[in-house]
Amino acid sequence: MIRENWGTRVGFILAAIGSAVGLGNIWRFPGVAYESGGGAFLVPYLVALLTAGIPLLIMEFTIGRRFKGSAPVALRRLNKNAEAIGWWQVAISMVIAVYYAAIIAWAAWYGYFSISQEWGGDPATFLMEDFLQNDGTLDTFSNWLPGIGLVMVVIWLVTLFIIGAGVRKGIETASKIFIPLLVVMFGVLVVQALTLDGAAEGLNAFFTPDWEAVAEPRVWLAAYGQIFFSLSIGFGIMITYASYLKRKSDITTSAFTVGFANSSFEILAGIGVFAVLGFMALESGVPIAEQSLTGVGLAFVAFPTIINTLPFAQGLFGILFFGSLVLAGWTSLISIVQVPVAAVEDRFGVSRLKATLFVGGGIAVVSTLLLPTTSGLMRLDMSDYYINQYGIAVAAPVSIVAVVWLAWKWKALRENANATSTFKIGPIWLVCLGVITPVMLTAILIFNIRDLMAADPNNPDDPLGGYNANQAFGWTVAIGALAFGVIMALILRRKDVPELVDEADVPGEATLTGGKEETR
Ligand code: ALA
Repeated sequence: MIRENWGTRVGFILAAIGSAVGLGNIWRFPGVAYESGGGAFLVPYLVALLTAGIPLLIMEFTIGRRFKGSAPVALRRLNKNAEAIGWWQVAISMVIAVYYAAIIAWAAWYGYFSISQEWGGDPATFLMEDFLQNDGTLDTFSNWLPGIGLVMVVIWLVTLFIIGAGVRKGIETASKIFIPLLVVMFGVLVVQALTLDGAAEGLNAFFTPDWEAVAEPRVWLAAYGQIFFSLSIGFGIMITYASYLKRKSDITTSAFTVGFANSSFEILAGIGVFAVLGFMALESGVPIAEQSLTGVGLAFVAFPTIINTLPFAQGLFGILFFGSLVLAGWTSLISIVQVPVAAVEDRFGVSRLKATLFVGGGIAVVSTLLLPTTSGLMRLDMSDYYINQYGIAVAAPVSIVAVVWLAWKWKALRENANATSTFKIGPIWLVCLGVITPVMLTAILIFNIRDLMAADPNNPDDPLGGYNANQAFGWTVAIGALAFGVIMALILRRKDVPELVDEADVPGEATLTGGKEETR
């Protein structure tokens, strides 16, 4: 069977940017930056982008394009023993998809609420008590919230429809419509935010570094975690998307374009959000640093509070902000769900329609049952923390060590990427990818586990306290994803993947595998 291709290069780049720019940029980044030292966070963030993000993106693009398969298939073709990593990444994507759809549904409701400021004078109470009816536990299954649930059903149906329509007709078309729209909406929003009184103080708070924070391992892990999540790397997406690239397409320029577009959007989001926070600080008289905000609170409490105090165009501001969240989130959700769908399609030879229906549909059912409940917020927060810090941030360096050092493919991958790219990568790429990233991440992880264990579960001011208190759930999610990967690879050990059919006429391809699967 001939593999589908992206229609155009721009189509691929827009789809990859659509995947990268998501809730991570607008909902997560300002919150993470805020909790991790404000301006000082930009230092570990930029280090992570340049030494880990872009080099890994290049590796994933090259693997996807060369081995023409979803993560488990492409990695198995690279080396027979690497399939487990691919399935591990599939499991991580499934966990993220489950909670990601819920945030899009909240944002859709909040867009609607903003028309008449439905949240009233106390948005925090409205969010926790009226809207989410948060019970602070992880184990309530019976209190299903139909308002959020039904919107999630719609989100899932449209997502599965787009994936079912295929890479070119579905994903590429959706990205070509959603991304330009998002850029315009978000641009208008940021310009509007910058005209508010107090915006300059907000930007000062964002760009003024708290250097003590840079010494904390938690901040570094948050930066790496943010880059991986935000760039959609380390959990199979970019391998899968690149597998639909034509064989001679440029790799490195695309990676830089996607990487910089994503971070520009993220920093723009930070500027917009902090400008607005500055306005809020001015109105309420409480300095930004003293406002207690979490990631969720930033979008769903701070913004409504600000909208309440805006002198003009309150509804429009809300629709632009929450509409941007919905659009950005949707194109990312599509890419996240494409990972398990394509994995089953490629590995078991089932049709796209069946894979979408059964795999995508299965994730949709779990998501729609578990998240719109009174335990939804806790499940979301715990899964998001553990799957990022102990899922993606572990799977990413493991995939690097496996590909670069164990399978010894760095040379062939580099040759293969360079052969079709205008910008050539050299030893710096290898040092960043193969040495700096795994060493940094191992060190950060060790320190972070130590801090997590030492956190006080009963202290609400301890940033890791809540995560310490819910370790059983968190580790089940994070280690469960890894276990899923290993088990799938063991089950499929004797079932070979179909051989690549293309000719090895691009330099580096022959050295990679000679067109065949190999065992070392
Ligand atoms: N890259 C996507 C995001 O930032 C998953 O939300």
